[in-house]
Amino acid sequence: MELLDILEHEKKEMMPESYKTRSTEEMEKRVREIKEKFGSRLYIPGHHYQKDEVVKFSDVTGDSLQLAQAAAENKDAEYIVFCGVHFMAETADMLTTEHQKVLLPDMRAGCSMADMADIEQTDRAWEKLQNVFGDTILPLTYVNSTAAIKAFVGKNGGATVTSSNAKKMLEWAFSQKQRILFLPDQHLGRNTAFDLGVPLDKMAIWNPISNELEYDGNPEDVVVILWKGHCSVHENFTVKNIEHIRKTEPDMNIIVHPECSREVVGLSDYAGSTKYIIDMIEAAEPGTKWAVGTEMNLVNRIIQQHPDKKIVSLNPFMCPCLTMNRIDLPHLLWTLEGLEKGETSNRIVVPEHITQDAVLALNRMLANV
Ligand code: 13P
Ligand code: SF4
Repeated sequence: MELLDILEHEKKEMMPESYKTRSTEEMEKRVREIKEKFGSRLYIPGHHYQKDEVVKFSDVTGDSLQLAQAAAENKDAEYIVFCGVHFMAETADMLTTEHQKVLLPDMRAGCSMADMADIEQTDRAWEKLQNVFGDTILPLTYVNSTAAIKAFVGKNGGATVTSSNAKKMLEWAFSQKQRILFLPDQHLGRNTAFDLGVPLDKMAIWNPISNELEYDGNPEDVVVILWKGHCSVHENFTVKNIEHIRKTEPDMNIIVHPECSREVVGLSDYAGSTKYIIDMIEAAEPGTKWAVGTEMNLVNRIIQQHPDKKIVSLNPFMCPCLTMNRIDLPHLLWTLEGLEKGETSNRIVVPEHITQDAVLALNRMLANV
């Protein structure tokens, strides 16, 4: 969502300091009480990257696709307190009915990747790309993007994708048009297109800062245009990390999220969404060894849940996603106590004109998976 829309539609409030001094026991007791009081009127989805203290109270946990589906299916809850980041709460708002209110416990829970593509840059890029390639491009956007970008994509016949359906959605996109513009994560776009057999030398990069196409060859050969964005968490997994594991633990499986670079994904044994990573390790034999390349709250949870397997982070110095981490027990409780008093601070409201087009893109994805 663009800044003016946010200012107009979303009131940002900060949690009072007093929440920082309350004991965990007392806060947990209050969360339980309020959940019980509201029953099915309250729904708390939690992304896999959330802290344990929040996941513990989530009614559903999942990857981005599962949470989008859960939001679309839930017609009962009056209040959806979304434990994840801003773009996920926006998606939930757009997929729910008018009487359902979506709240984000801390408005500072953004996503650095989603911030790497704004609508002005995208409009400028589209104009230039249309001049070069004509009407041959279909835009796709990773769900990790603002509602305005989703609306742009919807308006131009494209769809959203998540890391668990990107391959399917790219196949669909190629059945519609000759070329794809993939926003905003160059790595997910490159990894997925490569998996589908698109050679790297047929992929160009769109640089939103210089407003230029970065490509050495003949533009006629371009099949995929990758927006120059990335995840600042997943870019911290490197080829060096992989070489170290291969040298010190040669029988260890390496599994990474496709937001990692092509080099890292190419050298790994497996790559897939957070759900894919969880399911793979769950299904693995006891005694197997795993180096995992994804966010640290999830890696730590997987380690705890599988004491019969040796599991480490692919990068031993990895930190959690700082914006996901902004949602914690005090912020969750603050939001719930607000609801108890009839207050809906930190409500996410996507303007109707954006929702209309963005939902086209979301529904094209949901119909394809
Ligand atoms: P998943 O789609 O695998 O849940 O990952 C999304 C993500 O990176 C959240 O930012
Ligand atoms: Fe965004 Fe990366 Fe954090 Fe996911 S892990 S929310 S893509 S910054």
